[in-house]
Amino acid sequence: MQLRSFALRGPGFARGPSSILSRHASSEAQPCPARRRRSRVLRARTLLVTGSSGLIGSEVVRHFHRAGYRVEGVDNNQRAAFFGPQGDTRWVQRQLVAELPGFRHNELDVRDRRGLAGLVKALRPDAIVHAAAQPSHDLAATIPFDDFETNAVGTLNLLEAARLSCPESPFVFMSTNKVYGDRPNTIALVEKETRWDYADPAFAGGIPETLSIDQSKHSLFGVSKVAADVAVQEYGRYFGMPTCCLRGGCLTGPAHAGVELHGFLSYLVRCNLEGRPYRVYGYLGKQVRDNIHAEDVARFIAAFLESPRAGEVYNIGGGKANSCSILEAFALVEGITGRPQNSSYVDANRVGDHVCYYSDLARARSHFPGWDVSVTLPEILSDLVAGWTKRGVA
Ligand SMILES: NC(=O)c1ccc[n+]([C@@H]2O[C@H](COP(=O)([O-])OP(=O)(O)OC[C@H]3O[C@@H](n4cnc5c(N)ncnc54)[C@H](O)[C@@H]3O)[C@@H](O)[C@H]2O)c1
Repeated sequence: MQLRSFALRGPGFARGPSSILSRHASSEAQPCPARRRRSRVLRARTLLVTGSSGLIGSEVVRHFHRAGYRVEGVDNNQRAAFFGPQGDTRWVQRQLVAELPGFRHNELDVRDRRGLAGLVKALRPDAIVHAAAQPSHDLAATIPFDDFETNAVGTLNLLEAARLSCPESPFVFMSTNKVYGDRPNTIALVEKETRWDYADPAFAGGIPETLSIDQSKHSLFGVSKVAADVAVQEYGRYFGMPTCCLRGGCLTGPAHAGVELHGFLSYLVRCNLEGRPYRVYGYLGKQVRDNIHAEDVARFIAAFLESPRAGEVYNIGGGKANSCSILEAFALVEGITGRPQNSSYVDANRVGDHVCYYSDLARARSHFPGWDVSVTLPEILSDLVAGWTKRGVA
């Protein structure tokens, strides 16, 4: 395993809550002080990834393992409890353990406050990526306590564990564009042949981080993620910890166990390969999503860990260039597989569902000029087809 020089735990970050608070309490997100290197002491940096068997978690595990980190994962296959056998992520866990020497899987529930605190204390990781979640908008309404305890309380458990044991280590939280609730639906739209688009030129580049997250309909999932998102910001602004929230559009990749309730593009490809009808909920199938490959999300996280800032928020998606409507996605997938896409149509849209959403990536690009979306939409789709085919779906 490649060794990296140990980054001193931030000159500006003294240990102990009071000193952290007095040095960094701020209402503005801040770049963190440059990190000094501790000469001669070399060891692999440790990364703790929650939700490590999931789509984003597993991609992050692989990315940072390649980069020489010692990676510790936390997952309890809760996705199978949420979505049934089709959401099972044990196969990813087994692959990671078999293929990545040194990777360690920790069977832990993020709701287990003491267990999480003990693990973080023992590891004192150099960085944390928090990707464990109940990720479905629709499912949350049927399991409100499980949703809130996983998404909001689980995040607070991890933040507090980090504050007590490694407050200077960058903490990246996978938030969601659902924190904006249905506010994007108040933007004037224009109906085009195959998609909706913003009619208001102020949003020509997509949805910026400045859009209000207040006073709109969120779904209970949006509520639990808002609570977590604001807590992550607060540990940056109040305690000065190098935290950031990544408000994802549609994140996907070959490790996605897409199901009807979560992971639209992955699930759509699966339906195409199996000849199963894909159910479209309202908006004429012209609803627009921006899609980003999990590898580009991992690359963004790497850029943040190199130059962390405190209490930041970024919209992370494929942007307009990687956006598509469901109708457009059907055509693109048919072009790749050569198979017709079966579909059915339900008049009612999903509650609070965005009609048109694509991320404005200007802030992400300006803070991290070396980063940009690198995987195009057709490449993402080809990867999804290859991923499902490899898993025996055809
Ligand atoms: N995939 C997307 O399109 C998308 C979009 C926006 C935001 N996000 C966010 O990104 C993050 C990762 O999403 P994903 O698509 O990788 O989800 P995923 O469901 O593929 O992975 C989440 C993983 O977390 C695990 N998990 C769930 N609850 C847990 C618990 N209580 N304790 C331990 N592990 C638990 C699951 O078993 C699963 O392996 C989530 O926070 C999600 O809200 C995802």
